[in-house]
Amino acid sequence: MPDIIVRTHKSYTVQVQQDMGAFPTVLPLLKGPNVAIVCDDNVAPYFDVLAAYLGEKTLTKIVIPAGEAHKNATEYLSILNTLAAAHFTRDDAVISLGGGVVGDLAAFAASTYMRGIGLLAVPTSLLAMVDSAVGGKTAINIEYGKNLCGTFYQPDGVYVNTAFLVTLPRREQMCGWGEIIKYAFLSHTITLADLEGDATPTLIAKCIAIKARLVAEDETEKGKRKLLNLGHTIGHAIERLSGFALSHGECVAKGLAAVVGMSRRYYGLDEEWYRRAMAIVSCKGHDLTCPYGIEEIMAQLTADKKSHQGGVDMVLIDADLQGRIVPLSYDEIRNLML
Ligand SMILES: NC(=O)c1ccc[n+]([C@@H]2O[C@H](COP(=O)([O-])OP(=O)(O)OC[C@H]3O[C@@H](n4cnc5c(N)ncnc54)[C@H](O)[C@@H]3O)[C@@H](O)[C@H]2O)c1
Ligand SMILES: [Zn+2]
Repeated sequence: MPDIIVRTHKSYTVQVQQDMGAFPTVLPLLKGPNVAIVCDDNVAPYFDVLAAYLGEKTLTKIVIPAGEAHKNATEYLSILNTLAAAHFTRDDAVISLGGGVVGDLAAFAASTYMRGIGLLAVPTSLLAMVDSAVGGKTAINIEYGKNLCGTFYQPDGVYVNTAFLVTLPRREQMCGWGEIIKYAFLSHTITLADLEGDATPTLIAKCIAIKARLVAEDETEKGKRKLLNLGHTIGHAIERLSGFALSHGECVAKGLAAVVGMSRRYYGLDEEWYRRAMAIVSCKGHDLTCPYGIEEIMAQLTADKKSHQGGVDMVLIDADLQGRIVPLSYDEIRNLML
């Protein structure tokens, strides 16, 4: 599997493998003598798998409780204090070993400890592999909302290994597929046949390559990177309305289905287009129903941090089944949802 190079202000490589064989090749990225591996209690058993390759380093193991609720300031400060207590300096590094929660939290800590130390991302959930581990967005949640506190901080490298997926629960697999389906609308390199198959290294690498291209063109999300928000404007609203009982990927799938309907109306597309678009969105059997009404969704949209006064830059799907950024007023969004 060829490596993917993410060409941001600092270029780095994403390796996609299906066993640990190639892991030693990323070790030169770890410059200093100290390495902290941050994981959650579900993936903690994989600590020893990485540690086996890190015999030369002084290892610090940081285990946080699993779950979105722990992507918070308490765990963040605890990581910083652990690094300081172990005398980490700017040459040393953090390895994030886990899903998007561990990835965002550990990367935020790495980006701010001594104004930035080394960072190697080892995503273990499908969602983290295809999405959150690449692109440099770090975050924690605060009382007023998800991801409201964070930085842009690119890792030194990303090591994806599909062997980790063996233990990933089915519901989490489906979350990752929600994001993978999104990518089919951002490049024709992902076909319906790909989506109907397994999460192979080839498919994961295709997703990462699409994200890497958009991130390289627009590192800090001023323009084209917004395409990655396809399905997310409505998806985030549903996620918040559910009180986060519905997971991110499940809500993205519902958001994609909503956007298909809105796009059909906006561009005046025919039944055949709708059938093809829905074949993609429904190919993994996600529940695409939206349990909330239009006004409930609208109330969430107006409160979203990505909204601007009077409207939102939505990503719609065009006649060619590809995403397009379309600035829409709240009234237009309401009418397209009807
Ligand atoms: N930074 C970004 O660009 C970006 C993009 C998308 C999502 N995110 C963030 O990512 C988070 C969601 O990520 P997620 O879906 O990976 O959630 P997560 O990290 O909570 O992982 C989901 C669950 O799977 C478990 N898990 C992970 N890997 C496992 C494995 N190999 N075997 C067994 N269990 C495993 C975790 O312990 C957790 O219980 C959210 O906080 C979201 O905001 C960030
Ligand atoms: Zn997402």
